[in-house]
Amino acid sequence: MVRRTLEISRRQALVLAGGGAAALLTPATLAHATGNDLRDGMRALAGKIFYTTDRPGRWKGKENSHSPMIKVDKKGGDVLVRAATQHGMSGTHYIIKHILLDGELNFVKEQIFDKTFDNPRSRFELNDYSGRLFVVSICNQHDNWINWSEV
Ligand SMILES: [Fe+2]
Repeated sequence: MVRRTLEISRRQALVLAGGGAAALLTPATLAHATGNDLRDGMRALAGKIFYTTDRPGRWKGKENSHSPMIKVDKKGGDVLVRAATQHGMSGTHYIIKHILLDGELNFVKEQIFDKTFDNPRSRFELNDYSGRLFVVSICNQHDNWINWSEV
């Protein structure tokens, strides 16, 4: 019997999990991967370590208020990415930040929110980018939610 290895880099797993799930993943089970391997690795983690609209895992029913909406506008080489999470901001329950990752899950930019003043909406300006972008929205109670868009 062939045992399937989870193919996603340790760094990618840490970014996806916001650091909290690092103890669950050992270096021996992680290997560098790109392309379809990366997507397979993400599919294996979706609904368990991070959540998506299609894979809400234990947070089923929270999809609409936690999965970030993404709008991308491209004009020439300039790209404007806007993300919004339809989530309230109170002293005990709020969106901590949005993280923008490139198609290989490398960190690009982030927007940290002040729970007192901000709505969970972010704007990211990029120069000369094409391909997939991921947005991670982190709730202080309901973990990390990921959505993506193509530029
Ligand atoms: Fe939440």
